Amino acid sequence: MILDGFDAKSIAAAAAALRSGELVGLPTETVYGLGADAENEAAIARVFAAKGRPANHPLIVHVGDAAGVAHFASEVPDFARALMHAFWPGPLTLILRRQHGVAAAAAGGQDSIGLRCPSHPVAQALLKACHELGVQGIAAPSANLFGRVSPTTAAHVQSEFGAGLLILDGGPCSVGIESSIIDCTRGVPVLLRPGAVAREQAQAACGCKVLLKEDLLAHHAPTPRASGTLESHYAPKAKVRLMDAHALQKALDLLGAAAPADANRASPLIATYSRAVLKPRSAQVLCKRMPDDASATAQQLFAVLREFDSQGVQLIWVETPPASAEWDGVRDRLQRAAAD
Ligand code: TXA
Ligand code: MG
Repeated sequence: MILDGFDAKSIAAAAAALRSGELVGLPTETVYGLGADAENEAAIARVFAAKGRPANHPLIVHVGDAAGVAHFASEVPDFARALMHAFWPGPLTLILRRQHGVAAAAAGGQDSIGLRCPSHPVAQALLKACHELGVQGIAAPSANLFGRVSPTTAAHVQSEFGAGLLILDGGPCSVGIESSIIDCTRGVPVLLRPGAVAREQAQAACGCKVLLKEDLLAHHAPTPRASGTLESHYAPKAKVRLMDAHALQKALDLLGAAAPADANRASPLIATYSRAVLKPRSAQVLCKRMPDDASATAQQLFAVLREFDSQGVQLIWVETPPASAEWDGVRDRLQRAAAD
């Protein structure tokens, strides 16, 4: 059931549902989440079961403000405080040492916890209403089945989990890809997942170098379990292949006029998504322009992949995004979508 998230009655209903251990689909500025009371073990178990996600993969816990952190985290280094100050509410998740005995199931049993304060007004209203009912935080992974593309509209969430789930509609997500994740448990900040908060911005805010996961590997330190960091993730049903504009045009030329189509639907089986304007030789190729701007591309990326899937496309040729830092988040998601 989809409810208007901007209606106070819907917020009250969703908060009551969360309080009683039910799951709620909720909008955030990044992607939609599948929410549960962070401290209700049975509800957390339902999240893992609904997503088909292994129970040792930790969930992000959403809090209404930086003050909500003290309940879940035992230790907040100065650089983490600086990051919260600069980017909360917003698309940044911090991994912190977890308070002993708090939200262990949501944390997948790890001694750390991922915390994020979302800026979306519907998420903020829901967190406030939950807090008044004694719910300290909402654990919410992206509201998609394990390994699938994250949802950026209420309709996407319903297509994953069906009409039985209470979903708050907050409109299409403005960021469109999941939050940047910075691990703050290692003495120095480590970027685990790129997102709208870029590494350079984070460095400027906390005044120290933000390491990459690869830097940790080089030092043989174990990296945390994080499904958002698995190679093959965020995959649509269609195969995704990345290539530069020249190779893409060449592929279309080789395909020629005889591009295959789905006999039943009379719809294309091959789609392209590129900044370059391509010249397909066949009308049986679906060509979609990628915006020139990284944040505009992030905003539409998952919806575009879902739309190709729903049109029955089997193969998506994507122009490799530019190598510059502002494209890190989009490039990361596309590389994962292309890994098999
Ligand atoms: O934008 C987002 O972050 C969205 C919205 C709903 O907030 N959430 C999201 O959740 O992307 P999810 O569960 O799909 O991805 C969360 C990532 C996972 O890779 C998870 O393993 C990692 O955060 N994570 C959470 N807690 C962690 C922890 N304690 N240590 C290491 N990684 C953690
Ligand atoms: Mg996810």
